[in-house]
Amino acid sequence: MLPQNVAAWIRTPKADLEIDEAPYNEPGPGEILIRNEAIAIQPLDASVRKAAYMPIPYPFILGSNVAGTIEAVGAGVEDFKIGERVVSSTPTYVTKETKWGGWQKFVSSKPEMTAKIGEANYDRAVAISFPLSTAVSALQVYAGMAKPGEGEKSAYEQEKVLIWGAGGAVGGYAVQYAKSVGHTVIATASPRSFAHLESVGASKIVDYKSTDVEAQLRELGPFKFLMTASGDPTSQQVLASLLQPNGGRFISVRAGEVELPKNVERIYNMFEAAGQGPEFRHWWYTTYLPEAIGGAVEPTPTEKRSGGLKAIQAAGDDVFSGKAKSKIIVNPQE
Ligand SMILES: NC(=O)c1ccc[n+]([C@@H]2O[C@H](COP(=O)([O-])OP(=O)(O)OC[C@H]3O[C@@H](n4cnc5c(N)ncnc54)[C@H](OP(=O)(O)O)[C@@H]3O)[C@@H](O)[C@H]2O)c1
Repeated sequence: MLPQNVAAWIRTPKADLEIDEAPYNEPGPGEILIRNEAIAIQPLDASVRKAAYMPIPYPFILGSNVAGTIEAVGAGVEDFKIGERVVSSTPTYVTKETKWGGWQKFVSSKPEMTAKIGEANYDRAVAISFPLSTAVSALQVYAGMAKPGEGEKSAYEQEKVLIWGAGGAVGGYAVQYAKSVGHTVIATASPRSFAHLESVGASKIVDYKSTDVEAQLRELGPFKFLMTASGDPTSQQVLASLLQPNGGRFISVRAGEVELPKNVERIYNMFEAAGQGPEFRHWWYTTYLPEAIGGAVEPTPTEKRSGGLKAIQAAGDDVFSGKAKSKIIVNPQE
């Protein structure tokens, strides 16, 4: 008899989640099935649940990053074996089919978007993978930053990088990545994150709520790479202003919302999914991500919530409202 699968379903836009049975999907050719041991609640998931941030078919199963063990492999899958411990990005928001939704006990995924994690803790793996991938894809694939170990570190030290909103996971990992390449990194965050950001390599941190934040940052620039990891309108305006008078470009994790001067380009995308070209993907899943999870990257703060799938509703609300100050992790098997 097949195991019983259970999911947190959203049945209509903005509706509360319902915990109910879901199909147990035997993997098709080129697919894997994961027994899901850890979910990290991302702002994107919370926004789709609470505010119907993007169109999806209903009923639906949200979530696109999981960690667990390989439960079954489809025809043609050679790189993964049953029982192996993995972290995976599922194409939930790309294909919009429920079998990939992370908020269920058994979730389908693709081997090429899955990394082996050895003995690493599932919570650590799932906490790191999605925001780290967003930060690295944005900086490397979209803005052209080097890979760690590529080129002379000492040459990069002269090139300053500004990461706005480094108190969040994406921003915190962006600081670590830029530092690992060799850059001098300036960050903005709330004071509660200063010690963590200093410990992972930021050379100067400015409180983004200071009234003279722009003047302080101008003093610390100019910057070769600029990124807002909060993406809010104020951050975009300040970054655009710092690029004057010559203009330039900055990365934003959020689209639109602000009209920019003509000489400024905003680089925006769904970085995690869009940065998954074959070359990046191979390096990411076979080398960089396993090493990061194995210890090369310091995780941003996490909070484990008990209650299994039932805990996702409140956790998502806390993420959406900004109340959550850590990445919230849930074990769907509980
Ligand atoms: N485009 C993409 O591909 C992509 C992918 C992932 C995430 N995102 C977006 O990126 C954003 C961050 O995601 P995340 O996972 O890093 O979230 P997170 O870990 O939940 O980050 C929350 C933290 O961000 C900081 N923050 C909030 N508002 C801010 C503001 N106005 N200015 C500066 N810092 C602010 C706060 O830190 P302090 O305590 O320091 O105030 C807060 O604790 C979200 O909007 C998310 O939707 C986009």
